[in-house]
Amino acid sequence: MMKKTVLETHGLRREYRVGRNTVVALDGVDISIYEGEFVAIVGPSGCGKSTLLNLLGGLDQPTQGKVQLDSYDLAEFSEEQLAALRRQEMGFIFQRHDLFPVLTARENIEFPLLLGGKTPEERKILSDKLLKQIGLLEKADHLPDELSGGQQQRVGIARALANSPHILLADEPTGNLDSATGEEIVNILIHLTQGQGLTLVMVTHDPEVANRADRVLTLCDGHLVLEPSKETEVLS
Ligand SMILES: Nc1ncnc2c1ncn2[C@@H]1O[C@H](COP(=O)(O)OP(=O)(O)OP(=O)(O)O)[C@@H](O)[C@H]1O
Ligand SMILES: [Mg+2]
Repeated sequence: MMKKTVLETHGLRREYRVGRNTVVALDGVDISIYEGEFVAIVGPSGCGKSTLLNLLGGLDQPTQGKVQLDSYDLAEFSEEQLAALRRQEMGFIFQRHDLFPVLTARENIEFPLLLGGKTPEERKILSDKLLKQIGLLEKADHLPDELSGGQQQRVGIARALANSPHILLADEPTGNLDSATGEEIVNILIHLTQGQGLTLVMVTHDPEVANRADRVLTLCDGHLVLEPSKETEVLS
């Protein structure tokens, strides 16, 4: 069966100007991400992982090259179209949770639904379902401050999934959690995404997490490192 490509990059390059210097964060990255797969992005600190993820999500624009979503060039989207895309097609999870501190767990999860024009009844039904899925129904009325780091991260996952995105982009979602909590978060993510045929792209520095991915992309100094395939291993 043909795999459907959902995200694709061609000659992706991102430079940052810092004073008189130019930092090349990504240089000539070509990748394809297929529908429903879990791709891990790994590599040393500063190699361009977050830069790549931000470009894939249309949060940032390349200096050269392009990102295609379902074969459409993101550069051709207007600001409004990009905003709608981020709201409807993609979910984002960041390393440091970015929950709204004055909103409860439930209100945080319902926020994208509110933006999407859902009625209070629809929001309640969906947030109930998501709170159950992340095992936090009894903490629905807690503020982020009144939750543990792992619980906050779970609320972040639920919020990212609230609008039923097709693609979930996660930048070290387990980065500042202890390994047991991190594993639990990854279990929840894998469970929730596989159940819905969702495409998951996750930046991680944890080899155990990367091990659970369908595919691992390794970056080094802004370049993709080609892993030797099974065939070449046998031949060499
Ligand atoms: N806004 C910016 N301005 C200037 N340089 C930047 C900016 N953002 C990132 N860089 C530089 O680009 C390179 C890639 O950064 P990036 O954040 O993508 O790395 P990373 O792989 O995510 O690292 P980490 O694992 O530490 O999160 C680094 O050299 C970084 O210093
Ligand atoms: Mg990063």
